Amino acid sequence: MLEIKNLKKSFGKKTVLKDINLIVNKGDILGIIGPSGCGKSTLLRCINLLEKPNGGEIIFENDNLVDNKSHIETRRRIGMVFQQFNLFEHMTVLENIIFAPTTLKIMKKDDAIKKATELLKEIDLFDLANHYPSELSGGQKQRVAIIRTMIMKPDIILFDEPTSALDPEMIGEVTNLMRKIAKEGMTMIIVSHEMNFIKNFCTRVAFMDNGIIKEEGTSKQIFENPKCEELKKFLSKINNY
Ligand SMILES: Nc1ncnc2c1ncn2[C@@H]1O[C@H](COP(=O)(O)OP(=O)(O)OP(=O)(O)O)[C@@H](O)[C@H]1O
Ligand SMILES: [Mg+2]
Repeated sequence: MLEIKNLKKSFGKKTVLKDINLIVNKGDILGIIGPSGCGKSTLLRCINLLEKPNGGEIIFENDNLVDNKSHIETRRRIGMVFQQFNLFEHMTVLENIIFAPTTLKIMKKDDAIKKATELLKEIDLFDLANHYPSELSGGQKQRVAIIRTMIMKPDIILFDEPTSALDPEMIGEVTNLMRKIAKEGMTMIIVSHEMNFIKNFCTRVAFMDNGIIKEEGTSKQIFENPKCEELKKFLSKINNY
């Protein structure tokens, strides 16, 4: 479904992604772990074309996203959920959810409202449909952000530290929603420092260090039998999984 080949990204003289190679198959729940600053967010942002790579290929359903075409059609099939939710503060919950499908003319307004209502009811947030993000808790905001992505019917969702801005008691409601979506067959890439969550939830895990994928394997291999010294050191420092 997604194949990344020799991906490179620099900011000025600083090379952040040196040579990333990664394959994501349909239904994979891929966790990406690694020290702060190693380039995890930059990698997700390149996949979603929020950053323009300096080289390499990102092949999504036979379409190489690293060229000068606009790829609007492909982009909307790649959802993204951010640490800071990134909801539009001046729009209600409902308006946030229907904004993309109606603006891009993928859905008629009535249909979008109907679908958004259905999705909000599923996660017990319909009562908040006409509230503004500032009136919501972090966990509620993040679940709305996930629903906003889901209404676009993405083929893959990228999560960049979806729970790290949340109070501990709200983490569960967000991870439960992620589990539910995963069960429905969604392909996901998740960057997180929550090692327990990555260990128990992800089918595969990639360890990034210094702009490359240093080690990759099943969750069990990565956490119980790490091979490279950098990964061993990283896990020993975290030690909470
Ligand atoms: N727009 C930018 N301009 C310049 N440098 C950037 C930019 N975005 C990221 N960087 C740099 O790239 C490096 C990798 O950043 P990135 O945010 O991808 O790391 P990360 O692995 O997500 O870290 P964290 O775990 O702290 O979120 C950092 O040194 C960062 O300062
Ligand atoms: Mg980051």
